[in-house]
Amino acid sequence: MSLKIADVRKQYKIQATGSLINALNGISVTVEKGQTLGIVGESGCGKSTLARLISGLERTTSGDISWSDQAMTDKARNLFRARRSVVQLVFQDPYSSLNPRQKIGESISEILEVHKLVPAKAIDARVTELLTIVGLADDLKHRYPHQLSGGQRQRVSIARALAAEPQLLILDEPVSALDVSVRAEVMNLLIDLREKFGLTYIFISHDLAMIRYISDVIAVMYLGKIVEFGTWEQIIDRPQHPYTQALIAAMPDHSIIGNPETLSKTLKGEVPDPAHLPTGCSFHVRCPKAVASCMVTGPELIEISPNHLVACTEVER
Ligand SMILES: Nc1ncnc2c1ncn2[C@@H]1O[C@H](COP(=O)(O)OP(=O)(O)OP(=O)(O)O)[C@@H](O)[C@H]1O
Ligand code: SF4
Ligand SMILES: [Mg+2]
Repeated sequence: MSLKIADVRKQYKIQATGSLINALNGISVTVEKGQTLGIVGESGCGKSTLARLISGLERTTSGDISWSDQAMTDKARNLFRARRSVVQLVFQDPYSSLNPRQKIGESISEILEVHKLVPAKAIDARVTELLTIVGLADDLKHRYPHQLSGGQRQRVSIARALAAEPQLLILDEPVSALDVSVRAEVMNLLIDLREKFGLTYIFISHDLAMIRYISDVIAVMYLGKIVEFGTWEQIIDRPQHPYTQALIAAMPDHSIIGNPETLSKTLKGEVPDPAHLPTGCSFHVRCPKAVASCMVTGPELIEISPNHLVACTEVER
């Protein structure tokens, strides 16, 4: 069983100007069941767009996404719905997924009702069970989101996601908005849940310590493409793509990846406008190793050693 993403592209049309934003430009990656794929890259490289496409919140412009060899990109409405029970998304800000006027218990039971997962008379007991699974007391079900701490709210979002009995959880910066003191607790909860329910995760973060803690494999994204893919040792200790090298060199303390202030010390220029992608390798305008052919030929993601993939023509393989 695995999640397969094949040459996925996403363009957004800006009605006012008629311009096309190339948010994803051919993403291909496979995540095995039970694994966690960590995704890193500067702001705007397309991480959340990819999360929304996999979760079915938005449709791809082209490309295929499948889970367990079942297509998830079909435009048919019923398939789109079926996907919601396979994949669930947890956002950075739990306020965006919790209705402020709905009590916690209601927001969880709503999911159970929509997906018809338990008989009506068993809903209350299941809500209690889900709250217990995420480490919350049963009486919280009578409170509103604003009556909880940030960490408790994020636990409720996770309980809500689990209520749909998903196989794949997409975690888009799930602990970034939380107080530093509760981040580790929520991370440990996520790791426990992954083991307990055999979940597969996609974990998006700018925090390299968190990425390291939870990921089996890491994808580095730049301008809507994966430029390097591998294990922690391959990506962080022995990065091969000039972009990954600049990202890692910019943070000697291994802290926040893609921070514009520190990154400007190792990388010149800005990320190009995704409405006007550069020709050839989209990194060439900033790349310290660029040669003339980089302006013409866009490199493919090639395996340079077992399970270590790099999209750069100048890397030895
Ligand atoms: N609905 C939309 N309409 C137009 N452009 C969009 C839309 N959503 C995203 N974009 C653009 O697509 C690109 C990718 O955005 P995305 O939110 O996926 O980036 P990200 O990697 O998640 O960034 P961050 O780290 O800041 O969360 C950006 O250029 C963004 O402006
Ligand atoms: S292909 Fe060229 S421009 Fe692109 S990363 Fe490699 S050296 Fe740099
Ligand atoms: Mg994002």
